[in-house]
Amino acid sequence: MGWIPAFAGMSGEKTKDRLVYAAVWLACLAPLLWLTWRLLSGDLGANPIEALIRQLGVWGLRFILLSLAITPAARLLRQPRLIRFRRTVGLFAFAYVLLHWCTYIGVDQFFDWAAILKDIYKRPFITIGMTAFLLLIPLTVTSTNAAIRALGPVRWKRLHRLIYLIAPLGVLHYYMLVKADHRPPLIYAAVLAVLLGWRVFEWVRKRRR
Ligand code: HEM
Repeated sequence: MGWIPAFAGMSGEKTKDRLVYAAVWLACLAPLLWLTWRLLSGDLGANPIEALIRQLGVWGLRFILLSLAITPAARLLRQPRLIRFRRTVGLFAFAYVLLHWCTYIGVDQFFDWAAILKDIYKRPFITIGMTAFLLLIPLTVTSTNAAIRALGPVRWKRLHRLIYLIAPLGVLHYYMLVKADHRPPLIYAAVLAVLLGWRVFEWVRKRRR
């Protein structure tokens, strides 16, 4: 790989590390690229704006759940190196939710702030989505190494426990907006229950020890 400028003069281990990172980034970007392609080729159905909002929301939720799945996966598979991808996956979760929010604000509501505020006030699923979105912001802002150092690991960890509230709010937002078939949000709720249940189980086990 030495002939590629980005890998020149690097050890084999470091090159492998960079390649794995590049693959993770590409995998996280793939849904967005796929959605952009579908939007541009007119493949998002009769109401492309609604489809876009929904797809971005569902990917936001998937990435939130994926970020919660990394720690249990790393422990169960005895692969502690997986933990280093948690930040990337978390940042992509925020990016998808941000795009979801931007599409709603800009494309669906045309920046009509009075209508948006009315929506937040009148439609509980929007209130819940908005709360989850606002709670995600401090987690994203404090995801840099400098922020971790400034806060200290204990306070940083405490702050990042907000994800245990954000994820259920995201699922609840989904459940509340679905009118007919509640199975899809219930599947996400079940996955979340397993991921949070594992943490409760670990906490109880640690305390017993
Ligand atoms: C963590 C934050 C959020 C998550 C995880 C999330 C997730 C979702 C999901 C999964 C859907 C349904 C997708 C489907 O039907 O396939 C959805 C729809 C939607 N969300 Fe969010 N969302 C969040 C925040 C927000 C915010 C902040 C707003 C606006 C202020 C918003 C507005 C909407 C709207 C308008 C829909 C479509 C409703 C419809 O078509 O009837 N969401 N969201």
